[in-house]
Amino acid sequence: MSVFRTKSLDALLLDAKDAGGKLRRVLGPFDVTMIGIGAIIGAGIFAMVGEAAVGASSGYPAGPALIISFLLTAVACGFTALCYAELAAMVPISGSAYTYSYATMGELVAWIIGWDLIIEYAIGNVAVAISWSGYFNDFLGNTFGLEVEPWLRLDYRTFTQKGFDLASAPHLFGIPIVFNLPAVLIVLLLTAVLVKGIRESATLNTIMVAIKLVVLALFIGVGLYYFRLENWTPFAPGGWKGIQVGAATVFFAYIGFDAVSTVAEETKKPQRDMPFGIIGSLVICTFIYILVTVALTGMIPFLSLRDKIAEPLVAGLEYNDVSTWVIAVVALGSVVAHTAVLLVFQMGQPRIFFAMSRDGLLPKYFARVHPRFQTPHVTTIWTGLVVAALSAFCNIDEMANLCNIGTLFAFVLVCLGVLILRFKEPERPRPFRVPLGPVLPVLGIVFCLFLMHGLDRVTWFRFFGWLAIGLVLYAAYGYRKSRLRAGTHDAGGPRS
Ligand code: ALA
Repeated sequence: MSVFRTKSLDALLLDAKDAGGKLRRVLGPFDVTMIGIGAIIGAGIFAMVGEAAVGASSGYPAGPALIISFLLTAVACGFTALCYAELAAMVPISGSAYTYSYATMGELVAWIIGWDLIIEYAIGNVAVAISWSGYFNDFLGNTFGLEVEPWLRLDYRTFTQKGFDLASAPHLFGIPIVFNLPAVLIVLLLTAVLVKGIRESATLNTIMVAIKLVVLALFIGVGLYYFRLENWTPFAPGGWKGIQVGAATVFFAYIGFDAVSTVAEETKKPQRDMPFGIIGSLVICTFIYILVTVALTGMIPFLSLRDKIAEPLVAGLEYNDVSTWVIAVVALGSVVAHTAVLLVFQMGQPRIFFAMSRDGLLPKYFARVHPRFQTPHVTTIWTGLVVAALSAFCNIDEMANLCNIGTLFAFVLVCLGVLILRFKEPERPRPFRVPLGPVLPVLGIVFCLFLMHGLDRVTWFRFFGWLAIGLVLYAAYGYRKSRLRAGTHDAGGPRS
């Protein structure tokens, strides 16, 4: 069946080279590592560790053993990062997992994964934008005493959950108006930066990464100063289950190393820089996460995080009466960290659409490159508008879970892609090769499926619903318009 036809690596590389508009190759190994760290450190470590340690909604606290949760998730992500590195160095094309699937598992799977990556990048960014807004409002309140009206900074569900009365919000035609304005504004602002240029975006990202690293170093220093061993008893209050649930929750904190692969076409030497950036950023962030968790759980009894669960680092500082300027700096650092994640994810999503459009699975219009800025401006603007609209009304927990399941699914297919290509094209030069043959990709698949298994039923339903919509669109458009199917270039793999 033609839906299982694969596109040969040579055809993929050729198409990327011949495509009408070209992206600019300006990024080096340092830039891509910074892009990785920019995408990784954000809402996960600044906000979600609170829930993971306390287990308020799951009932399974990780407690100080959250350190083990972080290590476990790092190992799982490590297997996948190695697989991404092998594929990104071999197929340095901006479509990331979408492109690798096209070369290995055929057009239908490629479409599914492209569609699925929207969940990772766009939906993930909705979660980060909402978390950004929360920290930003706190920062405004704590530092300048400014307060944005609740109806202008929350979604409906959170608004009512927090006990605000819908009658107090303004009404339009009898409908109460409640939306997250700061989240919308930050997404639109970053969209403008991304349209302007990849170099400008990378520079802004590097500055923001430097700020977040300094702020986290400050936090680690202060936390270790106030460290008390008695806070580590009990070490694992929720037992193994608490550690496992904690690992699934903090998975969100690691998402982003894979975003490095979306700028492969803008990297000077992708064969060297892709593995370097993907693996380097994951290793650096794992190291930082462990230190932050050691500091946090040592400076405050984990149950005391309950009162400020969405701002655990600030809670740790306040518990020890640390001076207000340190608290303000950490809160500002969190806003900056969130901004960097938003920027890189907003950068990744359009590049995947761009690759899909180039293959004919999305309308040509989406593959346009700006004549002056040389950025994929059409997809960048569309992504910005959709993410901004969803951030206005959606709830953070739902969005984060959906992002986790979609990303894990993409990770499974990437590990599978490595195995298939090793079998199909064993001779093709691999600038980077995952060691130990098939062992690590297989372990990557097992670990990701295990984490997916831990996600709740509603998230699974939403995920399947999303994939079903994607299949309808593929049948209605991509299947008919595919360039591979139309035979407008060389096709590899089995034909039918
Ligand atoms: N890893 C990113 C974050 O924690 C998505 O915000």
